[in-house]
Amino acid sequence: MAILVTGGAGYIGSHTAAALLERGEEVVVLDNLQTGHRQAADGCTHFYEGDIRDEALLDRIFGSHEIDAVIHFAANSLVQESMTDPGKYYHNNVYGTLCLLERMRANGVKRIVFSSTAAVYGEPERVPIEETDKTEPANAYGETKLAMERMIRWFDAAHGIQNVSLRYFNAAGAHESGRIGEDHAPETHLVPIVLQAALGKRPHVAIFGDDYPTADGTCIRDYIHVSDLADAHLLAVDRLRRGEGSAVYNLGSGRGYSVREIIEQARRETGRDIPVVVQPRRAGDPAVLVASSERAKRELGWNPRRSDIGTIIRTAWAWHTAHPEGYGDR
Ligand code: UFG
Repeated sequence: MAILVTGGAGYIGSHTAAALLERGEEVVVLDNLQTGHRQAADGCTHFYEGDIRDEALLDRIFGSHEIDAVIHFAANSLVQESMTDPGKYYHNNVYGTLCLLERMRANGVKRIVFSSTAAVYGEPERVPIEETDKTEPANAYGETKLAMERMIRWFDAAHGIQNVSLRYFNAAGAHESGRIGEDHAPETHLVPIVLQAALGKRPHVAIFGDDYPTADGTCIRDYIHVSDLADAHLLAVDRLRRGEGSAVYNLGSGRGYSVREIIEQARRETGRDIPVVVQPRRAGDPAVLVASSERAKRELGWNPRRSDIGTIIRTAWAWHTAHPEGYGDR
């Protein structure tokens, strides 16, 4: 049996495809390379360059491989862009997922692991956040991800498409081989920005606000190693193959770090100077986002073993020093 990974040339998708291949799964990748990198999916024998909204292509893929599960990453994921161009997010994320689900239904594929996000919660009422907490997205990106989660659940109710939604907190780090890593254009994520500054590719890191109600005034996030996230997808597929039914899980380390703590850790790991400039708050940033991942540990047997902040920064730094221009395709 094969697993279809949509968005398998993206950051989390490529690490998940690598983990699937490492355990001997047959992997089929579909990616339109709008934000993904062909090189990131190099190890995958079956690669289709195309869009999830291309229903004829989806039928061709489902007709050519014995696919028993889909892991669905393909989506736009920039919070700020989603606020200025929500239509792009509804079209690619929501309508794209509808196309995928319709073709899964037509082709008798009954399992999907969905790439969701902590952004579905919006401003949390308490931390650590649990899966049963209120979902009230504060941006269009999170709104589309919540809509996708819900749409998938209706396809379960009507057509028996069993699903696991994984709500990631802050993915960071790179594969231990150093072969794949994080490369977004434009880059907006804190860890790669800090390491680009350490490499001298940026003059400084802008800290977006130091007047939050936290110990050092900067925002606290829950950073989780991308390969630990990848492991959770494999465990989610296993759960679906065992027929244990649909579920939703938070994926985080349960420990928060402030922006200043990340920069300090990066200074220690790299031995480089990292200049900072304090700027005004970025719109829509909650002060603290930390996950409770107890449910994933209990029900999936998930054990995030690379998510101490030292390992996250060390593996990300190894990737950045080996690939100062990223994949070099943008
Ligand atoms: N930050 C800076 N300077 C920068 C970049 C980020 O101070 O140059 C701060 C942000 O204000 C935030 C923290 O660093 O407080 C982390 O920011 P990121 O952009 O790396 O990550 P976010 O927490 O904003 O968002 C990430 C994903 C989203 C997802 C969200 C869910 O990028 O897709 O986590 O928690 F929705």
